[in-house]
Amino acid sequence: MDEKNLKNIAVFASGRGTNFSAIAQAIKKGKIKANLALVVCDNPKAGVIKRAKRQGVKVVLVLREDFKSKEEFEAKIIQHLEENKIDLVVLAGFMRLLSPNFVKRFYGRIINIHPALLPSFKGTQGIQDAFNYGVKVTGVTVHFVDEEMDHGPIILQEVVKIKENDTLESLEEKIHKIEHKIYPEAIRLFLEGRLKIEGRKVKII
Ligand code: GAR
Repeated sequence: MDEKNLKNIAVFASGRGTNFSAIAQAIKKGKIKANLALVVCDNPKAGVIKRAKRQGVKVVLVLREDFKSKEEFEAKIIQHLEENKIDLVVLAGFMRLLSPNFVKRFYGRIINIHPALLPSFKGTQGIQDAFNYGVKVTGVTVHFVDEEMDHGPIILQEVVKIKENDTLESLEEKIHKIEHKIYPEAIRLFLEGRLKIEGRKVKII
């Protein structure tokens, strides 16, 4: 496909950026046909910045403390999205809740990954919370973002078993491995126009 016909993706991240790298890799290998146009980062110490630069992907650092209000902070982000003609926003460890206004504006075009089987273990410590709870199965969820945290219509889920000899570290490793597989897969389905939201449900057509 001609580069100018490719859809533009923005990845929002606050941390290490391993999901960013998995997505960048999938694009490089031609598994996803898209242009990784932008990384939006809210943390100057985030590992994702180096990873993006290494891949030649543009990074914008937008820090909440530089703005008087959340509205102004998000207005700056929206400006970057518009300037870069972003079609899909991919939240990959972006540890900030987007406002209802932001979500309304992009509804159906923002997706998130969560390291547990939603609606269980929402929040910022999904892996640890599941491990400490003692569940025997957990997993990974990719979903459309709505106004509530870790809540919107579910696109893909994959189960990860917790064995007796698993440690938090070994579980983290298993979860991340699945994340790096199903996030590119969900993005591919979106870009191929195969995801149809029907209320709370997502049909894969
Ligand atoms: C991932 O495990 C992702 O599921 C999680 O942050 C991590 C980011 O890792 N997101 C959440 O917990 C959202 N509630 P990465 O920076 O290496 O991609």
